[in-house]
Amino acid sequence: MKQEMMHLPIVNRTDGYLDLFYYSNIGMYRLTLCEPRYKSNAAWLSTLIVTEDHRHEGHGNELLAHAEREARRWNCSALSLSVEWKSWVRDWYERKGFVVVVEGIDSTNVTMTKILNYDQN
Ligand SMILES: CC(C)(COP(=O)(O)OP(=O)(O)OC[C@H]1O[C@@H](n2cnc3c(N)ncnc32)[C@H](O)[C@@H]1OP(=O)(O)O)[C@@H](O)C(=O)NCCC(=O)NCCS
Repeated sequence: MKQEMMHLPIVNRTDGYLDLFYYSNIGMYRLTLCEPRYKSNAAWLSTLIVTEDHRHEGHGNELLAHAEREARRWNCSALSLSVEWKSWVRDWYERKGFVVVVEGIDSTNVTMTKILNYDQN
């Protein structure tokens, strides 16, 4: 099944971050951006989900590639996320160029980041 991407209007959170929700007929993800006044141009990726009956069909890879393109389109120089450090999902993100930047001692999660290359689209 082909994914048809949509996205909701920007949600302007009171804490100064912008939430962008992207949906398809098969999955979703959220991209959180800092407002320019915070002088950070990193994006945070979360809630990347593919509906259970359409997993293992390449849609997760498509959503991740879409998220990277959108982050570049918003002039973000890096894309970060949090993931369980023992899960296969961490290996997946490593294969896609993310590296662990914060590893909590007691936490089950790690923060991973990918530096975005502006030459790609
Ligand atoms: C993570 C998730 C979005 C992947 O979606 P998907 O459509 O099944 O992914 P794809 O078919 O595009 O596969 C992506 C990669 O993960 C691998 N993969 C998929 N499911 C896997 C599994 N259960 N175990 C190991 N590897 C797996 C694929 O082999 C593929 O690897 P490749 O890019 O090196 O070829 C989906 O499993 C999901 O929604 N999980 C629940 C929510 C979640 O854990 N989100 C991530 C939180 S950060």
